[in-house]
Amino acid sequence: MAKLRTIKGTHDILPWDIYKWQRVEKVLKEVFDAYTCKEVRTPVFEQTSLFARGVGEFSDIVSKEMYTFQDKGGDNLTLRPELTASVARSFIQHNYQQASPLHKLWYFGPLFRQERPQAGRQRQFHQYGIEFLGSTFPEADAEVIEIAAEIYTKLGLKNWELHINSIGSVEARKIYMEVLKKELKDHKAELCETCQARYDGNILRLFDCKNSACGDIMRDHAPSILDHLSDEDTLHFEELKALLTASGIDFFVDHTLVRGLDYYTRTTFEIKGTALGAQDALCGGGRYDDLISDLDGPQTPAVGFAAGVERLIMAMDAESLFDEDQSFVDLYIAPMDIHCLKGISPIVHNLRKKAFRVHMELMRRSVKAMMRDANRQKARWVAVIGEQELESGNIKLKNMKKNEQIECKILDIETIING
Ligand code: HAM
Repeated sequence: MAKLRTIKGTHDILPWDIYKWQRVEKVLKEVFDAYTCKEVRTPVFEQTSLFARGVGEFSDIVSKEMYTFQDKGGDNLTLRPELTASVARSFIQHNYQQASPLHKLWYFGPLFRQERPQAGRQRQFHQYGIEFLGSTFPEADAEVIEIAAEIYTKLGLKNWELHINSIGSVEARKIYMEVLKKELKDHKAELCETCQARYDGNILRLFDCKNSACGDIMRDHAPSILDHLSDEDTLHFEELKALLTASGIDFFVDHTLVRGLDYYTRTTFEIKGTALGAQDALCGGGRYDDLISDLDGPQTPAVGFAAGVERLIMAMDAESLFDEDQSFVDLYIAPMDIHCLKGISPIVHNLRKKAFRVHMELMRRSVKAMMRDANRQKARWVAVIGEQELESGNIKLKNMKKNEQIECKILDIETIING
């Protein structure tokens, strides 16, 4: 019989790697708190129509990557491939706008896309993200981008760069798409099959094609969308750039950055990991002023981003940003024999109550084997306790880093290991 394994493109996050995730999550929470964002949690599956309508039928996500199924009641459901549409659904369903005109939200969770797995590309992956719902102004875009950048800065990541663009509001983009169609008309037959379908379906998707022939045609013949923005769109983009500059955030303007989801209006941006391989997008986002109204909610301007956690951890590993020597055990208690377990129990309990991380032997091993284990676990301190120690109230505490032993009273353990 075949061995039971994880499904292709999905991974266990192993107990010896989890500290990396916890480090990232701690910093995320600090940054989100500093910007007074509130967390929102939505279900991992939703009605399929939410994503079909929200993300767009010509996007790769909806056309080829969704895990869609019918449940026993015959409902058509999809494992969420992204979270922006879910947040918009939640906003509409619970009338967020009645509670406040502006919501600054963050999320963290698993997503599912049936893509071809490769380094940095999985079928179940995790994103953290931000959605600001309610503001039309460029300072909201700037703050969202600032949060994305602040996270990398705070984690110490160096090899990344920010790319920004504006794809204008719907009206301006409609005009641009007509211009694009005209410019590319004579080259339609040279495009790949997918792009020929995109030419009629959503011509902007042509910018996403990885085919080199399509890339050449776009480079040689596609006009810049930035030359076709309305005055308001241009002003919005200029103000955003000025705000980013004022915050000391470097960026590149890339007029081909249209992003692969259909809901964007005006600002689009991506942060690329410059030391990552083919899957170099660490984070992507932009403004989506029409998504909520397209899903039958009130007209609500919004802007946000989402970032891949696995890719971030890969990028941090590449820059050796995790402390491999980190200790997870403050005190390792090694009982000399099982008769003293009852005497040790209140000591352990008291320390754990005070939030010390205390490991208590559960394998009845020899003192030598326990010392080896304490080393493996990178315990900061070890106390070997037997009947005699319990009777006298005096023990020997070993500082594992300094390889030094000190004698102290059981009552003083707390003060000593705290230092
Ligand atoms: P996205 O560009 O599809 O945008 O995904 C955002 C990030 O998720 C990517 O930059 C990448 O780091 C990570 N990611 C995407 N697919 C995979 C995968 N198969 N394996 C590993 N990581 C992956 C969105 O999802 C939008 N909802 C972003 C947004 C929020 N726009 C506005 N608000």
